[in-house]
Parts: sequence; structure tokens; C-alpha cells
Amino acid sequence: MSNRTFTMIKPDAFSKGHSGDILSMIERAGFRIVAMKKTLLSEQKAGEFYAVHRERPFYGELVEFMSSGPIVAAILEKDNAVADFRKLIGATDPAKADDGTIRKLYAENVGKNAVHGSDSDENAAIEGAFFFSGTEQW
Ligand code: CMP
Repeated sequence: MSNRTFTMIKPDAFSKGHSGDILSMIERAGFRIVAMKKTLLSEQKAGEFYAVHRERPFYGELVEFMSSGPIVAAILEKDNAVADFRKLIGATDPAKADDGTIRKLYAENVGKNAVHGSDSDENAAIEGAFFFSGTEQW
């Protein structure tokens, strides 16, 4: 069990001005922000980040959406971070997300689903390193 996970506030939530509310929910749930930045992914960078999904039918749509506007990327720390964060954000499809979760409150649909959360400790480390150097993590 690792104590870190990685998240992005996606272009849909950022453009609607939900970043502050989402970060507030994250902090109130007990996560500490280890590193954070607002950035804009190029199509190439978004494609690299989601390369594991490259054979999926939604890959092109996902890459286009994730490079369509600014995002907020962050590394978060808490005991049992990966599992607890996935509980806080809810199911990938907001129609299936529990009440009170970030995706239930802020996501539009399975593609424009407001936030990303790592699915394993291994991917949390890989995804965090995609955006942040060691000296940017405090
Ligand atoms: P995320 O947690 O960022 O990881 C992969 C993303 O692919 C997922 O959130 C969704 O935004 C997206 N995704 C998964 N399934 C679909 C789908 N059926 N159609 C469009 N996008 C999808």
C-alpha cells in the first residue's frame, strides 16, 4: 500500500470553474497536496499519458478532449491514497457514481468525467513522474 496517488482536474471541470470546489473536497477528505500545476497538454502528451488505452475505441476522443483546454495535475498523499481517492471521485461513468462523489457532482459523462485518479500504486508513481520532477514533490 502506497500513500500517494495522482489526479488531474480535466478540461470540462476546469473550464466550468470547478477546480476550487474539487480541490476543497480533496483537502477536506484528508489528502495533502504534494505537487500541483495548471497546464495544457498537447495532443502528443495526452496521447502518451493515455497510451495504455491506445487500442480502445474511445482513445482518439479521449486524447482530443484532454488536450482541448487547461487541466490541473496534482500528486496527493494520504494513507491508502489510491483506493480512498477512487472512492472520493466515484465511478468512471458519473451515471453510476455514488451520491456525494466528485464525478456525481461535477462530471458530464464517461468521457468528460471531471477528474482522473490513478488505478494502482504503480500507475500513481508513473503518472506523477510524467508531470513532476523529484524536486517538485514536497
Ligand atoms: P480516466 O480515469 O481518466 O482514465 C481513462 C479515461 O478514459 C476515463 O477516465 C474516461 O474519461 C475515458 N473513458 C473510459 N471509457 C470511455 C468511453 N466509453 N468513452 C469515452 N471515454 C471513456
